[in-house]
Amino acid sequence: MRVLVTGGAGYIGSHTVVQLIAAGHEVVIVDSFVNASPSVLPRLEDLAGTSIETHSFDVRDVDKTSALFAEGRFDAVIHFAGLKAVGESSEIPLEYYDNNLGTTFSLLRAMQRHEVGTLVFSSSATVYGETTTVPMHEDLPTSATNPYGWTKVMQEQILSDAARAGGPQIALLRYFNPVGAHVSGTIGEDPQGTPNNLMPFIAQVAVGRRARLQVFGDDYPTPDGTALRDYIHVEDLAAGHVAALEHLGAHPEIDVRAWNLGTGQGSSVLEMVRAFEAASGRPVPHDVAPRRRGDLAVCYADPTRAESELGWRAQHTIERMCADTWRWQAANPQGYNA
Ligand code: UD1
Repeated sequence: MRVLVTGGAGYIGSHTVVQLIAAGHEVVIVDSFVNASPSVLPRLEDLAGTSIETHSFDVRDVDKTSALFAEGRFDAVIHFAGLKAVGESSEIPLEYYDNNLGTTFSLLRAMQRHEVGTLVFSSSATVYGETTTVPMHEDLPTSATNPYGWTKVMQEQILSDAARAGGPQIALLRYFNPVGAHVSGTIGEDPQGTPNNLMPFIAQVAVGRRARLQVFGDDYPTPDGTALRDYIHVEDLAAGHVAALEHLGAHPEIDVRAWNLGTGQGSSVLEMVRAFEAASGRPVPHDVAPRRRGDLAVCYADPTRAESELGWRAQHTIERMCADTWRWQAANPQGYNA
């Protein structure tokens, strides 16, 4: 297939691009580069062993998007592009709604006009809102606790309505906590500013960029008191996109379907700290801080639907996730800006 990947220069997008090409698909990237570095592109081309057509603009630009589709002859779209920082989304909510919903409208219109029939969407376990039901399965009601989360809920709704009204076939992929990096250590997660998420923060402490980790809460009702999450290797996540794309192609009767991409296992913050110390051989000094607002005690996937329907299952262990993150971080202490 010839696949347009929006946000293809970002963390999850870049790893998926490498796997799509390895699986024999042709890839075109469009990325605004507001939260990605152009220096990822030569590295991607090295890994993929081919040049990759890349366009630098915001998919909200309807004219440019339409022109790209007029030339592109795409068979499918994977839509990663979007803003994703939970805290920031409460400070600048209109930016989040405008960006995440605007790209969705623009893409759906272009896909309709140019008869592109398949879309894989980058959703999140955040759509399960404040549910305390674990493992989380796809039929739980969706909801949110912050503007970022609402954009994902709304995007899922808009995409589902469009699909059911004869629009493209759509896969809603609900990611749990993506971590890790390509085994080469040449591409990985490179957050701008202070990382919001646990794994890049731990990695930056281990490499000496930050002094100490704050562990947000050790009084949760969990075995060691710290919160449990379903960490999934970004390479497993990328494989889930290829599987979803191929599944939709083989099942034209599907209009829209949600799949969790997680391992089904919960790991605590302290378990991650210890696993990272073991993988890196470096200490990760940490202090206990108050709980972070909006955090759930426990969040992990029921991944059985993806396994039975897509034939996909996460393969990589926490040890491997930490080892690969460390390889990337140690080789690129300042990320892509070194
Ligand atoms: C967060 C978002 C989620 C989003 C996902 C994207 C919130 C409430 N949720 O998930 O909507 O889809 O990122 O990857 O922000 N932790 C620390 N110290 C730190 C950072 C994190 O103790 O410096 C803890 C958190 O309290 C949490 C765990 O580590 O228990 C994982 O946090 P994080 O990586 O931010 O992911 P989520 O909060 O699960």
